[in-house]
This record gives sequence, C-alpha cells and structure tokens, in this order.
Amino acid sequence: MFEFQTGIIAALDTSTDMLVCTLARIHDSGFEVLGIADHICRRKANVELVPTLEALLSEQGMGVDALEALLVGRGPGSFTGVRIGISTAKGLAIGAHVPLFGASSLDACAWGAWRTGIRGRVAVAADAMRGELYPALYELNDDGAQRLFERERVVKAAAVVDEWAQLPEANTLQLIGDGLKRYRSLFEEVGFAEQLLPENLWWPSGAGLVHAFVAADGAAHASGNPAAVLPVYTRLSDAEEHERARLGKGVSATLDTSGVADDVAGRHLQLRPMGVADAEAAAALDSAAFEGITHSPWSATSFLEELDESLPVPHSWWVAHDAGELLGFAGGRVVDAHLELLNVAVKSAARRQGIARKLLAQLTYDAQMLGCTSVSLEVEEQNTAAQSLYVSLGFEVVGRRADYYGAGASAFVMSAALPLHLPRDAHSPEPTAEGIKTWSLQRIRRTNQEREALAERQLILAIESSCDETAVAIVDKAGTMLANQISTQIDFHARFGGVVPEIASRKHVEVMVSVVEAALEEASEALGLKSGTLQASELAAISVTQGPGLVGALVVGVAFAKGMAYAAGVPLICVNHLEGHLFANRLTDPTLEPPFIFTLVSGGHTMLVHVRAWGDYEVLGETLDDAVGEAFDKVAKALGLGYPGGPVISRLAESGNASAIDFPRAMMHSHDYRFSLSGLKTAVVSYIEQETAAGRVLHLPDIAASFEAAVFDVQYKKAWDALRETGAQSYCLGGGVAANAHLRALLEQKLTKRGIKVVLPPQQACTDNAAMIAEVARQKFASGEFAQFNVDADPNMSL
Ligand code: KG4
Ligand code: ZN
Repeated sequence: MFEFQTGIIAALDTSTDMLVCTLARIHDSGFEVLGIADHICRRKANVELVPTLEALLSEQGMGVDALEALLVGRGPGSFTGVRIGISTAKGLAIGAHVPLFGASSLDACAWGAWRTGIRGRVAVAADAMRGELYPALYELNDDGAQRLFERERVVKAAAVVDEWAQLPEANTLQLIGDGLKRYRSLFEEVGFAEQLLPENLWWPSGAGLVHAFVAADGAAHASGNPAAVLPVYTRLSDAEEHERARLGKGVSATLDTSGVADDVAGRHLQLRPMGVADAEAAAALDSAAFEGITHSPWSATSFLEELDESLPVPHSWWVAHDAGELLGFAGGRVVDAHLELLNVAVKSAARRQGIARKLLAQLTYDAQMLGCTSVSLEVEEQNTAAQSLYVSLGFEVVGRRADYYGAGASAFVMSAALPLHLPRDAHSPEPTAEGIKTWSLQRIRRTNQEREALAERQLILAIESSCDETAVAIVDKAGTMLANQISTQIDFHARFGGVVPEIASRKHVEVMVSVVEAALEEASEALGLKSGTLQASELAAISVTQGPGLVGALVVGVAFAKGMAYAAGVPLICVNHLEGHLFANRLTDPTLEPPFIFTLVSGGHTMLVHVRAWGDYEVLGETLDDAVGEAFDKVAKALGLGYPGGPVISRLAESGNASAIDFPRAMMHSHDYRFSLSGLKTAVVSYIEQETAAGRVLHLPDIAASFEAAVFDVQYKKAWDALRETGAQSYCLGGGVAANAHLRALLEQKLTKRGIKVVLPPQQACTDNAAMIAEVARQKFASGEFAQFNVDADPNMSL
C-alpha cells in the first residue's frame, strides 16, 4: 500500500484520440485537479505526450520531481494508443523513481460524466476499431459510478446496439464513448437519438481517471510496481485467434514444428496450443502423470470438450512436446477476469526441466490478454511437490476443499495475482527469480565520491525493441559494456513461422521494465556499487532504436525511453538500427575507422555500403526483393524447420555438400551492387517439390549447404567488387546472418588473402541486441547529438 505525502499525481491516457494529461493532488478526503492539458490528438500521442506533460508541469511551476506517482489509463482502446500511454508512463515511473498505477479508461469516461452531475444508467460505447466496440454499462448514483459488468469485452457494434435496445431501461440509457463518433447513426436508428450525452463527455478525461482511481482506493490495491501495469486488451492478436480457431476445428497445421523437424533442427521442447489431435495423447499422459495421486483422470472427450469452439467462456490450452512426443500440458478457462486452471501435467520422465513453468507462462499470457487479473487451481493436499512449484510462482493457499478428490483426499485451493513470478527468459530452464520483483522505492544514498565516480563514467543506457527482442545495454564513455540484457520472444512467434507484429508489441510492453531493471542491476554489480542499484538519474543519457523495424514494436521502446529520459532529467539519443548493426563491429575492433565496405545481412535488410566516414554512408546496392535472412527463414519454412531459419540451416549445412545442388546465383554478374533472392528461394522450393514427387528422400544437409553457398558466393563477389572499385582497404559485416560461421569464414579467408583487413562483429552481437545500439549512442553522446522529446518511431528509416 502506497501512502501519499504530497499527493501530486499525473494522470495520462492515450487509449483514444483524446490525449489525457492532467495534474491532480490526492488527499485524505479525495482529490483536487491542479491543471488539465487533455486535448484531441489524432495519431500523434507519442509525439505530444511528454511535451504536454512538460508544459503542464511548468505551467504549475513544478518539475517532474514534484510527481509522487503516475496514473495511466490501461484501455481498452486502440492497441497502439494504449501501449504509448502505458510505455511512456512506465518510463516516467522508472525515470522519476515513483510508483505507477493503472485504471480503466472506460471507468474514466463514466466518472467524467458523473463529475458533471449526470446520474442514472450510462452506457459507454468505446471504439474498438474494425466494426467493434468495447461496451460498458454503469449506474451513476450518489455513491459514484458503479460498474454493471464483470470484465471488459469487445463486441460487434451492431450487436451492442441490439443488446442495449433490448434492455428494460433502454429508454433512459444515456450514451457516451468515442464509438459514437463512428457508429452514431446505428444508435440513432434504434431510437437512442435523444439519449446521447454532450460530445465533450465521450472521451476519457484526466479528472475522470483520477476519480476512478481514488474511488476504487487504487493505491491500496496495487503495488505501484511499473512492471505490473499492463494494457487491457480483451482479445488475442489476430494470428492467435486464427490459430486457436484452426486448432479447435482439428485442421492440420500449416507449419509443423513437431516430429522429425525438432530433431533435425536440434530444437527440443517446443510449445504450442493444444489441438483436438492432441486429445488422446493428453489423456494418456494425464493418467500416467498422476499415478499414485488421487485425481479423476481426464478422458480424451474431457479434453475435446474444453477445446470446443462453442464453449461459452474463453479457454486456453497448451502442450509441450519434443520430437513429436507430448511431454506436458496445461489449460484452463477464463471466468470473470479470472483464470481457472483445470489441469496441469508433465510426464514424469520430463520433470525438473521447467516445463510446467513454461506452460504456465504461455497460459497466463493468454489469460492476461483476455483480461484476467488472477488465477486459481485445486491441488491435492498430499501433492507437496506441485504445491511448492505453485508457491514459487506466487500462489498462496486460499482455501481447502474437504474430500474434493474422494473420501480422504482433500484439495487446497491456491490462487495468485497475474502476472505470475516467472523467469524472464523463457529459454532458461530454471527459475531465475527475475520476472516481476517486489517493487521497492528505497531511496539511494551515495557518498559524494561515489556520485562523482558515476558521473565521471558517463553511463549510457540503450534500448532496442525494433523486432522480437527486448534488449537493454549499459555502456560507459570508454566503451566498457557494463550490462547487456536480451529477452527474446521467439517462443511466442515460432509457431506462426515468423514474427507476429501484434504479439511483438505486446511482449515488449510486458517485459520492458524487467529488462531495464535487470540491466541496471547487472551494471551495478559490474561497477561494484555497494550503496544500492544504479538509478535512472545517475545515467548520462538514454538511447533507443528509433527505426527501422516494426512500427508497433519501435513505439514501445521510443515511448518508454522518452518517458524515462525526461523524468530522469537526462538527454535522449535516437539510434538507427542499421547503424547499430554497423557499430557492432566496433565491439570487436574499437579502432575500426572508415573508409571501408560494409555488408548488412539481416532479416529485414540486405545492403552493401561504402562507409566513407562515420555518418557518411553511400549505399551501393540493396536487395530487389527478399532480404538474406528472410530467404533463410523462407527456405527453412519450406523444409518444415520452423522459425527462425538461419541457425537451423547453418547447423544442417555443416554436414552437407555445398556443391551437391547447383542453385542459381542471381545477379552474380549484373555489374552492379543489387541483390535478388526470391528466385533462389523459388528454386529451392521447386527442388524440394520435384524430389518429393519423384519419391526421393530429401538430403537436408546438402540442400542447406548448397543454398548457403549460392547466397554467400554472391555476397563475396559483390563485396570484393566494391572493395576494388572504391579502393577501400577494410571490410566489415553486420546483421543476423553475420552470425553464420560459413559466411564469416568465407569472407575472412578470401578477403584477407587479398590484403583486406576484415573485421567481424562478435557472433552474439550479430542478431538484434542493445550493445550495438549503445555503441552508436556513445558516439552520438560524444558529439552532442541529442533528440527532442517530441520524436516518434520511424519504421522506414534508412542509412
Ligand atoms: O539482425 P536480425 O537479428 O534482425 C533484423 O534486424 O532483421 O536478423 C535476423 C535474421 C533472421 O532472418 C535469421 O534467420 C538470421 O538473421 N540468422 C541467421 C543466422 N542467425 C540468424 N542466418 C544465417 N545463419 C545464422 N547463423
Ligand atoms: Zn537487426
């Protein structure tokens, strides 16, 4: 429970076109509004939010240090809009070292109306885009605005109109919500024309948001931990919905990452949602796993019933598998903002590998996306192993059901708040006690000497969130890397055969605070700081990838970095991701200086660049179609090897014959520096089809090695041509594909033999990371290239 002293709080909400930014002072008997800067702002929330707060504070004669807490609207609303508000607020809270609270944007609308004296039934029709609304009914009486619904939901606009028109109180219903902008006529057609409240009440307001928070005694019910404040989404991403629908229908997967492919790929322990085809195996596992423990075994039919699409409540079921064998499963139903875990089992031979944790991570992620805030389950009184697992995840015993599993076999009811205490890195088999930690606001006391020593080192924190890795690094002025944290989302994307942008954005919001905190801790340890963890205000600058990349993913990092830098009172530095890949070479050779030729081969880019000076980049040629990494990914997909393709293909290629198949080397002799890879991909696919049709067994290593050779021969040829033409004496490489050992060896050997100095980035700094972003930032810091707080992500940035 957080005790307010001064009570000064800033309320932000960007879930709609209304940019909410209000200052208030909370006191014992309520609150007073100090200043309001709420205004309509279409699609520019990320540009305007921090500057608006800055102006509002200065209008009140305050600095950001006057804020004692932050409050943010969690939606539901526009997905991107909600993420901008929440990410900025998280950054502000970490930067200012104050707690962050969340409140519903729908409640903010209802309370906004209440404050103007409206009483009676009020219906909020908030715009959910794509023909849908977030409908919410309230009773406004002298006690306040009471919710008449359990949890937020998303419904087709026409269905909401019908639903409300059928209500017994339909003719006294008063309508608000930004959905009226778009669907006004639908409501008017059924007779609501006279019941629309004035337009200024249609959007959330800062005063409404604070009121909703104060009325619910929000500070008593939340920890204030910025990591725990997450958007209210009400639905999964489209990709996940389609996947679920497909699995519910028993249609076979288009991308199979199971069976032999796991083996060949050297990838073990995969997770995917349970499909109807898993029911038999799950039932068999269930009866084996619970041997010796009282448990009414589930039949295949029980699983099928839970997977049924027509089940009136949302559900989520996941399985863990390896080489086609089912190792475990977990699943449950969503009932009133609560996940009821129905069954969790792991094959006895596969225990102690963290499988249950991973399954629960997926399950609770789904549950949170579906609006859940808590989870519960029943566990047999005698099953102490399971109980201790749940306790370590944050569950507590909340009840006991006598004879639940039959006479003498009682059950404990355990429950936990979401998110669970889960390992931050889904790949680490054992819990790392990271994830969401207890939030502490302890003030740090440093000696003058310590303070000076920190200032002297000029620490720069860098954030990377352009694709599917959330990464944070901290470097000092001399280039010493003090922290380098990466949280990868690959597990969440792999089953879709590529990165799903909406999932990427969601995961960035979810983990950003913990990754930043982990980096601050890692750096504190590296610095030998005894007097408490490094604080944002002790940094010299905060830098972030501005582009290019997935817009929704970039926005999270940029909004967070702006909030953090502004609140910490340190400069902001924007970095081009492509320049980051280039600067990764400086992690190997800090003396690297232009001019040189640089090849960028990543998942999104393929370019040959003449680096004449730092910042002076002549792009000699780019790909006309697919990027090199993309070609690896597509070929791997065609071979059923899953995502990402690069690492799998290079592993296979090790034992293959590179001259076994003569794949085309497109544009090898085009006498320019452009590349084309789609023809090669097609050639590989036709080869696979032709061999399969002829009944021959595919030799995967040969295909992989021959494909790589076709790609790399062209890369080498053009790089050498460019070196000769420009007269540059040095060469370097970057991007995810630069991690490929064969490409590295080929370029190094051939070019070194020709007298060229070859620099290659450290292998782990080739794929996306923040160390490379920090390296660019270090240079920009030295030359004073700072960004303003009105910058936005730029998904199309080029070199
Ligand atoms: O630079 P990156 O991490 O992300 C982008 O900015 O695009 O590059 C990711 C790409 C993926 O396409 C992946 O398949 C590829 O890099 N990749 C590899 C290897 N490791 C990652 N390609 C070939 N060989 C590898 N060892
Ligand atoms: Zn990249």
